[in-house]
Amino acid sequence: MKEQLEQIKQQALCALDAAATPADLEELRVRYLGKKGELTAVLKQMGSLSAEERPVMGQVANSVRAVIEEKLESRKSEIGAAVLEAKLASEAIDVTIPGEPVTMGHEHPMNQVLQQIKDIFVGMGYQIVDGPEIELADYNFTRLNIEEGHPSRDRSDTFYFDDEDKVLLRTQTSPMQIRYMENHKPPLCMLAPGRVFRKDEADATHSPMFHQIEGLVVAENITMGDLKGALITIMHKIYGHDANVRFRPHHFPFTEPSCEMDMQCHKCHGTGEVNGGVCSTCHGEGWIELLGAGMVHPEVLRNCGIDPDKYSGFAFGIGLERTAMGRLKINDLRLIFDNDARFLNQF
Ligand code: PHE
Repeated sequence: MKEQLEQIKQQALCALDAAATPADLEELRVRYLGKKGELTAVLKQMGSLSAEERPVMGQVANSVRAVIEEKLESRKSEIGAAVLEAKLASEAIDVTIPGEPVTMGHEHPMNQVLQQIKDIFVGMGYQIVDGPEIELADYNFTRLNIEEGHPSRDRSDTFYFDDEDKVLLRTQTSPMQIRYMENHKPPLCMLAPGRVFRKDEADATHSPMFHQIEGLVVAENITMGDLKGALITIMHKIYGHDANVRFRPHHFPFTEPSCEMDMQCHKCHGTGEVNGGVCSTCHGEGWIELLGAGMVHPEVLRNCGIDPDKYSGFAFGIGLERTAMGRLKINDLRLIFDNDARFLNQF
């Protein structure tokens, strides 16, 4: 038995010397010192020894265990130190290597144009306000004189949240006219830019989400001449004084009379053709629709507690993407939302 113990000791010490990782050490601990380990197996045979031999063998066994335990501890700290050293070496940072250059972004081209437009209007005395994108049908339609059953309220055009068609993603910024007039008395002059949503297929001039800039002026003696003057001034400031714009009669339930304003297509210069084909930017029209406008309908003023016999006003809704397209000579609206740095870096 003594030889057996001696052999276990030699083997264990050898194996411990050869161990390279904390996992190796744990395996050896179990193999030699564990409950089912080799040392325990030998100790189990002690019962067969004589009463004189037993304490002697016990002592030998204890000293073998102590030697193995001691070796285990010293290997543990050696291997631990080696592991730490390797980790430090692999994670060492060379502070003298030059850093990676950080590419700086810049304001999105559409925001550049929005900022410019806001500045122009602020200079003309407009107050800039913000409103909810999730809107009540009451504000988006009803109080704007768009009655139940009107085609623009259709589920095929509008994103509704509820079965009763009462809550929706606003299809226009015009509900801001109502919201503003609820809280402000004339004379008033407001500008409300923001996102609007329609069930439109995306193409060169359409997107299911786009931006409008709503404008509203209500005071005494406001006329269609004021509307035209303000909008032509603004377009000349944005596009330059030689920009070609035109007004066309139109219909909106919340303005009377109503019109739309177009800008000559910057791609085909009004011809509707590019290289013998139909201009894709204006669909061959030669003009791009920029905004809807008109004199605020008396019913809308009344809906907001404003006396239409005393006050009149004009309103407009500018399409921001289309305005930016003309300003920056972009020929496809989808590029504005694609977020491709090769495109954005040009502005
Ligand atoms: N809200 C209208 C649209 O989305 C535009 C508009 C705004 C027309 C204000 C008249 C007055 O088409």
